[in-house]
Amino acid sequence: MLMNKVETLMVTSPANRVFQRCVEAPMLRRLGGRTPGARALEIGCGSGYGTKLIIDQFGAATVDAVDLDPAMVTRARRLLRRYHDQVRIVQGSADDLQAAIGADDATYDAVFDFGIIHHITNWRDAVAEVARVLRPGGTFYYLEVTATALARPSYRRFLHHPTEDRFTAGQFLAELARHGLDPADRWRTYVGSDYLAGVARKP
Ligand SMILES: C[S@@+](CC[C@H](N)C(=O)[O-])C[C@H]1O[C@@H](n2cnc3c(N)ncnc32)[C@H](O)[C@@H]1O
Repeated sequence: MLMNKVETLMVTSPANRVFQRCVEAPMLRRLGGRTPGARALEIGCGSGYGTKLIIDQFGAATVDAVDLDPAMVTRARRLLRRYHDQVRIVQGSADDLQAAIGADDATYDAVFDFGIIHHITNWRDAVAEVARVLRPGGTFYYLEVTATALARPSYRRFLHHPTEDRFTAGQFLAELARHGLDPADRWRTYVGSDYLAGVARKP
């Protein structure tokens, strides 16, 4: 599901980039470490700032990035011009990565989700795709917005999200495990149970 104008402004704001660079990415690094030399995938890359962090902070060698919104793909390509030999950005949906980016089974060392799976109505299919395209030993880094947050008046009034089959932190972790991704104890909720951050490994 595409973002509305309010969320697009928020996600592309300088403040959000500072938060992503100084809080979110370091939190994921503390939970899962860096991925030097990795072949990485980012689902829902938005304007591409997370893609840049995957290279600069996590040390990935290459990043394939997918976003449903053609306008975001254009923005990301512009932002990541100087990374053109390391980054491929395509328009497509995270619930079918073979169609979106031609991703075969066991292709990536790391997959990153900076807050996009809660935008997908059939979010379980996106989790299944992450598990499919990770190679054994690979890592899934995720930051998610739970049903608790999406039910708050601020989210309901100003933002646009799927209204059915939203997930709690527990449901998201259970879905990871159902697809063979091991969240172990490398996850945490924050702002109560509104947000979930973690890493899960594919054995
Ligand atoms: C909240 S934004 C996060 C963007 C980026 N990850 C960031 O942190 O700035 C959610 C993004 O997910 C994208 N999106 C929504 N549904 C998607 C889908 N099914 N497949 C891929 N991207 C999707 C939206 O277009 C949007 O760019």
